[in-house]
Amino acid sequence: MPHRPAPEGVDPNTPSAARIYDYALGGKDNYAADRAVAEKVFAMAPEMPVMARQNREFLGRAVRYLAAEAGVRQFLDIGSGLPTQQNVHQVVEEAAPGSSVVYVDYDPIVVAHGAALIGTRDDVAFVRGDLRELDAVLAAPDLRRLIDFDRPVAVLMVAVLHFVPDGDKPYEVVSRLRELMAPGSYLAVSHVTPDPHPEETAELAAVSTRAGAPWIARSRAEIMRFLDGFDLVEPGLVTPPEWRPGIARRVDPAKMWVLSGVGRRR
Ligand SMILES: C[S@@+](CC[C@H](N)C(=O)[O-])C[C@H]1O[C@@H](n2cnc3c(N)ncnc32)[C@H](O)[C@@H]1O
Repeated sequence: MPHRPAPEGVDPNTPSAARIYDYALGGKDNYAADRAVAEKVFAMAPEMPVMARQNREFLGRAVRYLAAEAGVRQFLDIGSGLPTQQNVHQVVEEAAPGSSVVYVDYDPIVVAHGAALIGTRDDVAFVRGDLRELDAVLAAPDLRRLIDFDRPVAVLMVAVLHFVPDGDKPYEVVSRLRELMAPGSYLAVSHVTPDPHPEETAELAAVSTRAGAPWIARSRAEIMRFLDGFDLVEPGLVTPPEWRPGIARRVDPAKMWVLSGVGRRR
């Protein structure tokens, strides 16, 4: 049983990437169908929950870097996922109060819980939108009100592009966004990669696809292509625990099959 009732338009019987990820992070906004897929994946890849947490921590550190060190004051988080701890607007609020944050996700449960979390504040918004339909996303009134592409903006596409197969033109979407972004803007990306365990990753992707929650792994070179036109900030495209870890607890990067990086628009 879910811990909260299903919002309108949510089908609890079809697994959702957002809710599977929520379960991996130890959240409560997931249903039996999500947990069944997650448990299958965990049985094959016990490092999965650690990797999800590491990915989430990368997101937090990247946003802190962008707000506190790079001076960015507008954040567009595409494929934001369900609210959990250290949500982007909460990290931004500590590092750079007065910034604006727009979350975009195509999953109705994400938007319902997200809207409930932010309440009536007008510097943060949750937009329901599919990144494959970029024009509609960009036309959303809250996005137009809060994001000015003529000023530096941080676009966050963290653990979302691996849900978009090449046939849905993810490179075109990212390059259209890049052309809109003012110089000095940033793009943060996290993406599943077949390295260092190509066979296991392919098997996992097949299991997830059969269970109704498909994703695809891309090679380092393919992930780098999303960052064309951006200069990678140090330390480049690395596993999440290797990205500016500070004093964070060390996790073996060899167990991570995700690459994360932040690029600055030239
Ligand atoms: C694994 S979660 C990542 C959440 C967050 N970005 C993070 O890294 O912690 C992926 C999210 O992307 C969303 N998503 C997948 N495909 C999408 C699309 N085409 N348009 C918008 N959101 C999408 C899912 O609904 C899910 O909430």
